[in-house]
Amino acid sequence: MDRLLALNGDETLLDVGTGPGDFPGRLRADEHRGRIVGLDFSAGMVERASAQYPAVEFQQGDAAALPFADGTFEVVTARHMLYHVPDVAAALAEFKRVLKPSGRFLAITNASGYMAELWDAVAEALPGESVLDELLSHRGGSAVFSEMQGEELVRAAFGNVQVEFVEGALVFDRPEPVLAYLESMTPLHRLAPDDLERIRAALNASFKTCTQGGGWHVSKRVVFITAQC
Ligand SMILES: C[S@@+](CC[C@H](N)C(=O)[O-])C[C@H]1O[C@@H](n2cnc3c(N)ncnc32)[C@H](O)[C@@H]1O
Repeated sequence: MDRLLALNGDETLLDVGTGPGDFPGRLRADEHRGRIVGLDFSAGMVERASAQYPAVEFQQGDAAALPFADGTFEVVTARHMLYHVPDVAAALAEFKRVLKPSGRFLAITNASGYMAELWDAVAEALPGESVLDELLSHRGGSAVFSEMQGEELVRAAFGNVQVEFVEGALVFDRPEPVLAYLESMTPLHRLAPDDLERIRAALNASFKTCTQGGGWHVSKRVVFITAQC
């Protein structure tokens, strides 16, 4: 991200869907001098980010209706958030509107194959379970904004686009963090206790066969999509 953005420290930057605000916070700690705004739909996230990074400006707002005048920023970033936005094209139009004429945009999102091993293990544990459809729709990349749709959507909004993949992985040496992650997801809250037990058992079995090679690898392939006004 740092290499692609190549910031000189003076840019005005908007981080949309900033979440806990770690990225703007790091930029400020690295002595970025330009105005930095972290925006998030969630009041709780804005409250938390403001408390943790008081030197950064955080605001509550919607990516699809940004509370800024035209041409306010030199850089807009949207990291792992566009797949939450119902109208991605509207949000991209807003990002372009608040950018200055030569402004730059960076989106990061989950690519196809993202955490495929995890979804495969869950699907194997509960074949044909309809309550998992929503969860498993994320297999093969985000349903609404992976590189599959993202490249074309960004090109349509900005007239140009560049795409770069980064291959990463989570390596687990025990199943508990994976189970805790899965159990935090809303669709799983609708499962009966027996079904959750089946998922636990299947993941435990995957662990036994996969950890001999030094841990259970869950691939995290992400895509960086950049464009210029
Ligand atoms: C998966 S988190 C990513 C947080 C952060 N960008 C990161 O990469 O760590 C997605 C964030 O986008 C925010 N979000 C979702 N829809 C939004 C919208 N329409 N406008 C602004 N923020 C939104 C959520 O509240 C959440 O904080």
